[in-house]
Amino acid sequence: MLFTTVTNPAEVQQILELQAQNLVSALTAETMATQGFVTVRHEPDVLQRMNEITPAIIAQDGDRLAGYALVMPREFAPDVPILVPMFRMLDGLSWNGRLLRDNPRWFVMGQICVAEDFRGMGIFDGLYLKMKEVYRPRYDFTVTEVAERNTRSMRAHERVGFQTLHVYPDATTGEVWRVIVLEL
Ligand SMILES: CC(C)(COP(=O)(O)OP(=O)(O)OC[C@H]1O[C@@H](n2cnc3c(N)ncnc32)[C@H](O)[C@@H]1OP(=O)(O)O)[C@@H](O)C(=O)NCCC(=O)NCCS
Repeated sequence: MLFTTVTNPAEVQQILELQAQNLVSALTAETMATQGFVTVRHEPDVLQRMNEITPAIIAQDGDRLAGYALVMPREFAPDVPILVPMFRMLDGLSWNGRLLRDNPRWFVMGQICVAEDFRGMGIFDGLYLKMKEVYRPRYDFTVTEVAERNTRSMRAHERVGFQTLHVYPDATTGEVWRVIVLEL
């Protein structure tokens, strides 16, 4: 297994394919409950540009994409409209006594996914280890949010050291989101 960063458009395409397989709309309720799910579908051109600025961390098994973790600096918020309210909320939160709005040294981990036949094999941990190695020089911490009902993802994020910053229900869907932080 090779843990590395995205270097070309074909890898971005592989991310989009793995994402499509794990969207809420593609999964049964039972699969979502036991395996987890992703919520955001990225526009290909936006994901390509994001990967040129801040390449995603990927796990490769030969030609196969085993997993990915997206890196989304706040400058990209307007490009992913569904995440604009989240960035607005994050601006009002503080970490280590400093408002996120006034702190340039963090990014959003925009989405993580491990391909089904690679789950439970340490890929998740490997992606975050690589993320720390690559992004520690530029950033102090990363922020993400996980739906509380995605218990598999919650468990894995707690295990690698994420701490809870904020919990809130989405005003329209009622989905309860947990905003979590990992020191790099
Ligand atoms: C969430 C995901 C990235 C985690 O990767 P993974 O390789 O499956 O994670 P791991 O196996 O290392 O860890 C999963 C944890 O959940 C636990 N788990 C396994 N099945 C579970 C279940 N049905 N319900 C709750 N927890 C479960 C595991 O025991 C493990 O916890 P532990 O270390 O305390 O034992 C992966 O499952 C995935 O891509 N799911 C679909 C997309 C997704 O949910 N992405 C995250 C969006 S926030």
